[in-house]
Amino acid sequence: MAKTLVFLFTLLFLSVISHATAAKSNGFANILSPAKLGLKKEKLSHLHFFFHDIVSGRNPTAVRVASAAATNKSPTLFGAVVMADDPLTVTPDHNSKLVGKAQGIYASASQDEVGLLMVMNFAFMEGKYNDSSLSLLGRNTIFSTVREMPIVGGSGLFRFARGYAQAKTHKFNPKTGDAVVEYNVYVFHY
Ligand SMILES: *[C@@H]1O[C@H](CO)[C@@H](O)[C@H](O)[C@H]1NC(C)=O
Repeated sequence: MAKTLVFLFTLLFLSVISHATAAKSNGFANILSPAKLGLKKEKLSHLHFFFHDIVSGRNPTAVRVASAAATNKSPTLFGAVVMADDPLTVTPDHNSKLVGKAQGIYASASQDEVGLLMVMNFAFMEGKYNDSSLSLLGRNTIFSTVREMPIVGGSGLFRFARGYAQAKTHKFNPKTGDAVVEYNVYVFHY
């Protein structure tokens, strides 16, 4: 008897709750439990790769797409906007295994030192990371030893990602402007 009562009260309680939720949701916004999206424990991942920014030669991977009238007179190339599709590899050797591409824009946003605004997606293609991506939005003072930039999100395996990237120039050719940059990326994701 007591059990039946508890059962009936539970049913009543659940129907009131689900009715309240349904009334609130209106088909537009809903509160979900993370389990509903299959989210388990948050993980911390470390990714390490080399970024090849090739601006010279016949097959550049980064091209200037815009600039201001004063850009070429500016010591920091203030106003230059570059679109990049830069290979990401496991070692500094350009021909080593390709793990992804850095696709996006970097633009000279500082007049006092070379400071780039970086808006990039790392589109990965290696193993289980294939088709997953991380989005970086940050400030890159390319002549500093280590530059730190926020990772503001991700897709696929990197849904809900947040973290930071540390970039360190491995090789820079001042004649051509080509650079190889080592990246260490630390991200929390599910
Ligand atoms: C990555 O996925 C694409 C399909 O989205 C597939 O064509 C490609 O072969 C995959 N690459 C690797 C390295 O698994």
